[in-house]
Amino acid sequence: MKSDVKDPKLAEKGRLRIEWAEKDMPVLRGIKARFAKEKPLKGIRLAACLHVTTETANLMDTLAAGGAQVHLCASNPLSTQDDVAASLVKHFKIPTFAIKGEDNKTYYKHMGQCLSIMPNITMDDGADLVSTVHKEKKDLIKNMLGGTEETTTGVIRLKAMAKDGVLEYPIIAVNDAYTKYLFDNRYGTGQSTLDGVLRATNRLIAGSILVVCGYGWCGKGVAMRAKGMGARVVVTEVDPLRALEAVLDGFSVMPLEDIAPQADIFITVTGDINVISERAFKKMKDGSIVANSGHFNVEIDIPALKKLSKSTRQIRDFVEEHTLRGGNRVYLLGEGRLINLAAAEGHPSQVMDMSFANQALSAEYMAKNHKKLEKSVYPVPCEIDQEIARLKLAGMGIKIDKLTAEQKKYLQSWEMGT
Ligand code: ADE
Repeated sequence: MKSDVKDPKLAEKGRLRIEWAEKDMPVLRGIKARFAKEKPLKGIRLAACLHVTTETANLMDTLAAGGAQVHLCASNPLSTQDDVAASLVKHFKIPTFAIKGEDNKTYYKHMGQCLSIMPNITMDDGADLVSTVHKEKKDLIKNMLGGTEETTTGVIRLKAMAKDGVLEYPIIAVNDAYTKYLFDNRYGTGQSTLDGVLRATNRLIAGSILVVCGYGWCGKGVAMRAKGMGARVVVTEVDPLRALEAVLDGFSVMPLEDIAPQADIFITVTGDINVISERAFKKMKDGSIVANSGHFNVEIDIPALKKLSKSTRQIRDFVEEHTLRGGNRVYLLGEGRLINLAAAEGHPSQVMDMSFANQALSAEYMAKNHKKLEKSVYPVPCEIDQEIARLKLAGMGIKIDKLTAEQKKYLQSWEMGT
């Protein structure tokens, strides 16, 4: 079996950690049990480009149980867990092409190897597979039933492709399901981003001035958790509605360059380019820490930081010290790549359970319904979203009330007022 992983000897460690994650993924476990009986993905070849983590391993296992033939590559050069990749190959027999720290050339070589399965379905986190298929491997489009997309950035790219009329097959925007973004983006990113910053720096959060750039669902989560740990949180925004939300949630809101001279830690979660730029670096105080938790490594203007620096050294794992010409030091974490996966392990299994249940059920939906779909970006059907919420609550042992017949009728009527 073809594959490319760092070290096959890491497989046993990976297997145990995959098992550890599985026990916190009851919804996905239930789907796997049903898939194993019904084989809804029989005959489907599926190429997945996801962060290679313990949770992703459980998703791959679920898709394979459903009858799919699966190939996997990384969706970020720095997010692969090498022990997991080794175990996927050895124990799960899933061809995996991913090595933590791979350079860009290897990253794209691995993507090519992943696509050699000639997929019928692509499963993306950031839309690099779809983009590669459309730009460089157009011959694969004829086999394609559809795809799924995991993250905000990917959905934005795919909607831009659909708008330009260049998208050649239907995609389900898994990110936009309630059971995905309300939990994964907020609670997952909130916790795992601070986990990454802490593992990289071991800095005290309490009392720090921590700037969160962007107040989307990820920014909301990071700000909420940083506040909970005692940080003095400042939010920067470009959207007046989100800025207002941040103010009423109790955060200071101001332009980045105004807070730059005072802040200790900066975290970008905007999805946009050059959010922390040369002008902000010039205003930062000595010892500032800069990290990104958005999908791509474009939010911090690293070329500008390099240009301003007279020297650079690696001072700890995932911490690069840049000494600027004036003498101030700026610490860049995880090469500006998503810090929660570069320096930590990504979102906890409990939230990935819902995200990946959406992926598995969306792949099944695509396999069954692709003929009805156009070359467009579709939401996850609301029945799937509701079912995942129901199963997650059941997995947590939480019961909820039911509407009475009278209440149902009331909600559908307009006659009754005061
Ligand atoms: N994205 C964020 N956290 C993740 C995880 N644990 N596994 C896969 N993708 C992720």
